Amino acid sequence: MTMKRFQKKQNPLMEPIDKCLAYLRKKNSFQPDIALILGTGLGNLAKRIKAEKVFAYEELPFFPKTTVQSHGGNLILGELGGKKIAAMEGRFHFYEGYSLAEVTFPVRVLRQMGAKTLVVSNAAGGLNLSYKKGEIVLLTDHINFMGVNPLVGPNADKLGPRFPDMCEPYSNRLIDLTVKAAREQKIFVKQGVYIGVTGPCLETRAEYRMMKNLGADLVGMSTVPEVIVGVHMGMEILGVSIVTDTCDPDHLEPVNIQEIIKTANEAGPKLDKLIGAAIAKF
Ligand code: HPA
Repeated sequence: MTMKRFQKKQNPLMEPIDKCLAYLRKKNSFQPDIALILGTGLGNLAKRIKAEKVFAYEELPFFPKTTVQSHGGNLILGELGGKKIAAMEGRFHFYEGYSLAEVTFPVRVLRQMGAKTLVVSNAAGGLNLSYKKGEIVLLTDHINFMGVNPLVGPNADKLGPRFPDMCEPYSNRLIDLTVKAAREQKIFVKQGVYIGVTGPCLETRAEYRMMKNLGADLVGMSTVPEVIVGVHMGMEILGVSIVTDTCDPDHLEPVNIQEIIKTANEAGPKLDKLIGAAIAKF
């Protein structure tokens, strides 16, 4: 090992972020207020956005490409609920083989474009047995159970602190506003803690039992890396899950991914409506 290893390294993220941002700036002057990541089954919300500009991910410098069939692959810039939105139709997952730097790269770019708020949605398994399939749960907290963290490596001091505080990753203010919007829209919502795993296999009975004991209400294979990076860059964050399957270790049935996608798709319009109404209050 040479002393070189101990020299302070530049964060390798800055150049790709700057290049992607420069490309977007050259094509438009749009400054989003809110970055929105649309998870499984929630792609339809993209259709409610009054789009000013749509970029295929392929077109954007350094953007990864999606490999998951249920996800689109566009960055949509436009208006929703009277707010300027940058929506990601489809996200990237660690299980696809991307590094967490790649998974979270779009969040970095959207923050640099101007978005101060991040709304993340996902399909998740319900560990809390009071949850029913198709219900909406607002995330109050998370457990990073991925065994990796997107902030490992040289810190980009320009983007955020070395040791970001995680005492309120999901904004209580945004949760309150979303609960208000849900009441007005007569949409039933619950609240809970999300545990993030890498996947791609689902969990064993023993793992579900452990996760419940750790204090998690929901389990899924996304969201946690994006939220950590959002916190790193000082974003105010709302996380929303659709419960797509029940993770009851004592009565576990094989899950069918097509079923999960179907449940998410069926609940999608309800969540679209909620997010539209909530965003108008942010
Ligand atoms: N486990 C992990 N991820 C998931 C699940 C699950 O049971 N359901 C939906 N996403």
